[in-house]
Amino acid sequence: MNTTADGARNVYVCAGPRTAFAKIDGPLAQLDAVGLGVPVVQEATKALARGSPDLVVWGAVIPSLSVSHLAREIWLDARLDPYVPALTVVQQCATSLAAATHAAAQMKAGRIDLALCGGSESMSNVQTGLTRGMSRVLRRVAQAKGPGQALQALGGLRLRHVKLSIPGVKERTTGLTMGEHAEITTKEWNIDRESQDRFALGSHRNAIAAWEGGFFDDLVMTSDAFPQIERDGIPRADTSLEKLANLPPVFDRKSGQGTLTAGNSSPLTDGAAACWVATERGLGRLGQALYRARLLDWEVAAVDIERDGLLMAPSLAVPRLLARQGLRYSDIGLWEVHEAFAAQVLFTIAALNDRGWLKERAGVDADLGTVPEDRINPVGGSVALGHPFGATGARILSQAVKRLSETGGRALVSICAAGGMGHVALLEAV
Ligand SMILES: CC(C)(COP(=O)(O)OP(=O)(O)OC[C@H]1O[C@@H](n2cnc3c(N)ncnc32)[C@H](O)[C@@H]1OP(=O)(O)O)[C@@H](O)C(=O)NCCC(=O)NCCS
Repeated sequence: MNTTADGARNVYVCAGPRTAFAKIDGPLAQLDAVGLGVPVVQEATKALARGSPDLVVWGAVIPSLSVSHLAREIWLDARLDPYVPALTVVQQCATSLAAATHAAAQMKAGRIDLALCGGSESMSNVQTGLTRGMSRVLRRVAQAKGPGQALQALGGLRLRHVKLSIPGVKERTTGLTMGEHAEITTKEWNIDRESQDRFALGSHRNAIAAWEGGFFDDLVMTSDAFPQIERDGIPRADTSLEKLANLPPVFDRKSGQGTLTAGNSSPLTDGAAACWVATERGLGRLGQALYRARLLDWEVAAVDIERDGLLMAPSLAVPRLLARQGLRYSDIGLWEVHEAFAAQVLFTIAALNDRGWLKERAGVDADLGTVPEDRINPVGGSVALGHPFGATGARILSQAVKRLSETGGRALVSICAAGGMGHVALLEAV
């Protein structure tokens, strides 16, 4: 069937390849966001039986000083059909989920049939900028028409200009890191340390079991571009509750109340991931039998960072999406939730289980039930698998689609993003 009951076109997500994920300064450190994206895009396009995609949508979160239109540069370096247009997107940790829903919206509107979506992130190659003052002076020196003008331009240099601008994982408006914000919300929702460590341990155990069981074998690619890594390097078979309990807090070291540690936070990670978005007609261009699921609906929400908490937007987006679809939590068999921090998943669940919160903050006055926690991230999440910001959305979509093709039913994908945003999507097995 080409259309849904209301006449809109069916849209599907198909699993795509990803690199193995590696910790910052690890085996992927020699590749930047372009270099990580190229082999993934080349691998993904091997699935094409004929033609090319109608659009490439790609993103990274950390800005590059030398590349602005990342999607197009990756596509050109991959030496693929130059007539395919590209769009670069950023929505922080939800970047490649936003890439996929952007493509889906174009498909629902009847404009395109097939898009390659994804993202890449090289935390190892974050570029250090100069201050605006220093940059202005150096630009004038470069544009000077002779040594006199150059010297005059250099005369504009002040001591305050001589400072490096090193990007960090910080909220621009508050100056706090993601971790510092998460600490605040963790305390507000009384999420204790042991629950966080237990959740983190589950993430590692599920990831290790999924790797041992072969789940990732056809989702994670190998390449001559990164011969040193074939499997995710972050999941730990040797971690335990005792080891996790011994790690010191890293984002609140002073109050004695800090609970977020290197063990229950997602690590800084390098990697890239892709997925396909297609209409019925677009699927016809994908020759290989890729895992696929129908993309039923999605929702994007934003919160007031100070009032609600930086990472709380999924707790508004999920109930709005489910209420619109007439579904309750128990109707979702698979919950693929981005784990920025173990605590963030736990305070999101607490909010989703709070009818007052749903009514007041999400505007949803319905009994959605209780979140079935045993259905969350059965093959591991960002704490254990890693979190290359731009790639996480495509990683989650691909593994949700593969899992659904094994189990049937529905999946909810949920990603919190810096800037106080959340992006969630609903998939159904076909
Ligand atoms: C949390 C963070 C600060 C930790 O950085 P780090 O200190 O370099 O982390 P490391 O990997 O070196 O781990 C620190 C220690 O904890 C140990 N550790 C980490 N995870 C562990 C686990 N699961 N089990 C046991 N030990 C663990 C490491 O072995 C290391 O021990 P060592 O010092 O004896 O070698 C960093 O990963 C970070 O900033 N993460 C947050 C990223 C973020 O903001 N994500 C959200 C975006 S939405």
